[in-house]
Amino acid sequence: MNAGNPDTPENEHPEDAQDLDKPIDLIHKSALPYRPRVGEALDLHVDLNIGVVLGRSDSFHRKYRAGGLGMIGGVAETSDDVLTSLMGMPVKLDLMSPHVMLVAGKRGSGKSYTLGIIAEELALAMERREIEVAAIMVDTVDVFRQMVDPNDDQIDLLKKWDYESRGFPVNVYIPRRTYVGLPDEVKKKARLYPLSIGPKELTVSDWGYVLEKGGTLSTTMENLISEILDSVRKGYALDSGEHVSLKRDFSIKDMIRCIETSPSIEGLFTPATRMALIQRLKRADRMGIFHPGGTSAQDLAIAGQITVIDVAPLGSDAEAVLAILTNMLCRQVLTYRMAWTDEGTSAREELPPTWLIIDEAHTLVPRSGDTPAKDAIIGYAKLGRRFGCSLVLCTQQPSAVSDDAISQADLIISHSLSHDNDIRALQQRAPAVLPDQFRDKVFISSLPRGAAIVFDQTTENKRGFIMQVRPRLSQHGGTDRLSGLFEAVKLLIPEGADEVELVELPEEEESVEVEEIIEAEEDLALEESGEELPEVPRPPLKLSKEDWQVLDGWMKDYVQKLFEEQKQEFSITDEASPRVEEPVEEPSLSDVEIVPVSEPEIDASAVLVKKFGPVSKELLSKATTRKILYSKASHGYLFTSEKDHRETISVDRIDTEPLILINWVAAGISSSGLELDQLIHEDGFTFVCFRGDGVRVIFSVGSSESKICAPVVIVGIDRRVVASAADRIRSSLHKPE
Ligand SMILES: Nc1ncnc2c1ncn2[C@@H]1O[C@H](COP(=O)(O)OP(=O)(O)O)[C@@H](O)[C@H]1O
Ligand SMILES: [Mg+2]
Repeated sequence: MNAGNPDTPENEHPEDAQDLDKPIDLIHKSALPYRPRVGEALDLHVDLNIGVVLGRSDSFHRKYRAGGLGMIGGVAETSDDVLTSLMGMPVKLDLMSPHVMLVAGKRGSGKSYTLGIIAEELALAMERREIEVAAIMVDTVDVFRQMVDPNDDQIDLLKKWDYESRGFPVNVYIPRRTYVGLPDEVKKKARLYPLSIGPKELTVSDWGYVLEKGGTLSTTMENLISEILDSVRKGYALDSGEHVSLKRDFSIKDMIRCIETSPSIEGLFTPATRMALIQRLKRADRMGIFHPGGTSAQDLAIAGQITVIDVAPLGSDAEAVLAILTNMLCRQVLTYRMAWTDEGTSAREELPPTWLIIDEAHTLVPRSGDTPAKDAIIGYAKLGRRFGCSLVLCTQQPSAVSDDAISQADLIISHSLSHDNDIRALQQRAPAVLPDQFRDKVFISSLPRGAAIVFDQTTENKRGFIMQVRPRLSQHGGTDRLSGLFEAVKLLIPEGADEVELVELPEEEESVEVEEIIEAEEDLALEESGEELPEVPRPPLKLSKEDWQVLDGWMKDYVQKLFEEQKQEFSITDEASPRVEEPVEEPSLSDVEIVPVSEPEIDASAVLVKKFGPVSKELLSKATTRKILYSKASHGYLFTSEKDHRETISVDRIDTEPLILINWVAAGISSSGLELDQLIHEDGFTFVCFRGDGVRVIFSVGSSESKICAPVVIVGIDRRVVASAADRIRSSLHKPE
């Protein structure tokens, strides 16, 4: 039955979890201020113990019952017939199988708020361990990032619904340029990560979109771009005879250098054309978002995690960047999911079923005209469900969104609309019957904020109905101090100054940081597939008092600058932030214990073997290797300079005793002329450290079911020394045991 989503955990006995004989509590009238009387009888998919069920067939629902449903609101219409009235029934949305949803409504009608509700319910269902998905929310106006904080602004409303406010731990990706300018503590505590796009991801027409802000470049310029891309990919010769070698990954600066130095480009294009493109590329570089090794779908789609992509700091460049990012995201998510499912392997190991939630989608998938994201979104809408992926599109102008995308929607939630063509678009596309009363322009344009007409394709011969969206548990939008901080960063890097160079992160450091995140998330995913699942919901991470002090310091500088420049009046209150009162300590991730070893022989029983849930051999080895490379203590031991080289030898066995494997690997390394130095215990792993002339070596052990692996990492400054040490270790490990 659950064919559409092979990764949804089985949950056939939800009855154990709750008493299904208890009749459902209706939502109190005081929580539903708007309750129009609707003449036509209402007949929905109702489970008397649960409420109105959206997005599920009867048979699917009989199997899963309460499992994987999200509470999104209540039926808010009355009927002449008391017996059939569903007034006050909770409305539960299926989150187990994939959906394509459209959320429509004019500005201020509550669309983004409703998207937030969907994200909250995904997070809650994951905390209850009923589903395991990744949710990526694309935020253009700074409204979803605030999900970390409880919704304390609507406490009274929450009371009426019998809810308590709370925050959710969301990861927030912000443009790399903003990220680089922020203090480290803030990045860490506010769970901020750098968002970047690798220039190699962009096609010629994508470049046109970026460089001309949504327009297209002249044919000559396009030819020039195409020439540059070709040259930097394949390499090109200089006048001096020197060859600029092939680059698999490159920066905008590399592209500019190519225009400036390639004789063949000089021969083909006029100085004016070259200059014009250089200027545009410099401008694009200053956005601080294009950077080699950009963010990938695998960074963003993390099982169990809500990820917010906040492009608001990009201002007027947000739209073009977002289109390119969304294109990449849709294509990557879909191809990963397709590739893995075809192989018959569980796709979850590489990329979980993903919910892509896109606010203000009409700019990305317009009815007329093209954007870099249009085809990719339509493709995702059409194919995604087959691979467990969901899409939620939100728009204030349903008439301006491509029909190819809207026609895929199996669920539509429409808030108030006021334009005739938008109302018509809704009528044409509603996947269920639209009663005459709802077609009335006055009716649909006077729906109050938070009220919506809901259409569900699984009950397509039945009519749409009025729902009041429930209040948010977490904060929706509003300015937080981070907003001010993002602005402050902008000020630190003056706009328009041509020579401005971005503050570059040291290459090594940054890649480690990002890898660390991936690695940490991977570990989480690995552990979650095992038996020992943490029972307690993860607490929202808040900034500590010290972080806020840093932030406030920054804000003061910012305000000072504004005053100096007489730009505008600005005042901040001296009132302490409520957040300062209860600093929540981030749980310390791991304790590190370092044990020096003086004997030449290893005590294998002192080496911890990290146990993973059931995973493939490759993933086991990859996760253990990553741990060695990116844990702080082992990284510090191995890498002493940026120029270090490294080699990795993977060792894995099935049904081998850990003690035997540890002794054997240690003996192999020792016999290659290295000396046992120390053991570092961290996080259930032990890093066994060896030292030799100009090289450092670590191995660590991980196991999963009957599989065991002990990857060996060799690092040193001289490539040849590292290679020869690796060869010696390899050959001694390949001897029969
Ligand atoms: N279901 C709701 N319950 C309570 N308040 C709501 C609800 N929906 C929206 N609001 C309020 O209306 C404001 C605007 O909603 P929002 O979703 O941001 O509008 P838009 O449709 O422009 O995205 C929100 O900040 C929130 O205060
Ligand atoms: Mg909005």
